[in-house]
Amino acid sequence: MIRAAHAAAPGKIILFGEHAVVHGQPAIAVPLAAVQVQARADPASAGSGLTIRAADIGRVFRFRDAAENHSFYNALIYPLRLALDWLHQSEPDLTITVQSTIPIGGGLGSGAALAAALIRVLLAALDSPLPRETVNALVYEVEKRHHGSPSGVDNTVIVYAQPVYFVRGQPLETFEISRSFTLLVADSGISSPTHITVGDVRQLYDAEPDRVGAIFARIGEIVRAARAAIESGKIELLGSLMNENHALLRDLTVSSDKLERLCRAALDAGAQGAKLSGGGRGGNIIALAEPGQTDQIAAALRQQGAARVIETVVRS
Ligand code: MEV
Repeated sequence: MIRAAHAAAPGKIILFGEHAVVHGQPAIAVPLAAVQVQARADPASAGSGLTIRAADIGRVFRFRDAAENHSFYNALIYPLRLALDWLHQSEPDLTITVQSTIPIGGGLGSGAALAAALIRVLLAALDSPLPRETVNALVYEVEKRHHGSPSGVDNTVIVYAQPVYFVRGQPLETFEISRSFTLLVADSGISSPTHITVGDVRQLYDAEPDRVGAIFARIGEIVRAARAAIESGKIELLGSLMNENHALLRDLTVSSDKLERLCRAALDAGAQGAKLSGGGRGGNIIALAEPGQTDQIAAALRQQGAARVIETVVRS
């Protein structure tokens, strides 16, 4: 029995620990509900098969016609194929419509959220719910296709839609947020594929294991200190930890002129801390702001060319 269904998945931001997390250090990430993928499934006539409508780009893909070397295959077809294979089900007669407000290549988890929403809506339409661990494992498989050797932090925070303290290969750990805090997420407008920066950091590590290993280790200490600060409500400690984490990411070569300008503009306008978030070189920066200062910081970020500024509260 196939039924109509709806599913959604949020974007994500990494607060601390990107890149080092690929090499075994912890990271802290939170969902970003202000941007989302929405997916709707509608039963289709017998024999019509599975059709995916990508509403944002006005294109329609048929599951059975998809060529595996097509770039849309990885994003739209592969997640559904993985889920159907897992269920040992053949192609259902279903039309899935997806829409996303998460910028592609902006480091906010667009690929993982798309996969999560597609898999969830398919499972709901087939009335075959799977545990979140299984959905997460399937989305991780999709991430591997996009990014090569991802840590798994992006799919985990998106599938569980809650703040995570993530260590590669270990079970999900959440933590308490004792006091809410406000972040501004500013988009550099530059798309930067994560697999390139992850690959470059790996090369740097291979070339200089001692120096780069020490940077990873220090980032790990920052992440642990940030978790303690968040758990004990000492939000005032987070700003300098963000600034230090950003400086270490710069040492890992994943900052850029634009990201530096955006962080500087946020700090000059009163932010308590600022750092790039995600893969770097493009994508987003995050800035920690007192609630009364968000307008002036957002204006400064826009003046420095931020393509979009999102305000988000990480809630206790
Ligand atoms: C990307 O959002 C986070 C990185 O640490 C990559 C990963 O963890 O797979 C840069």
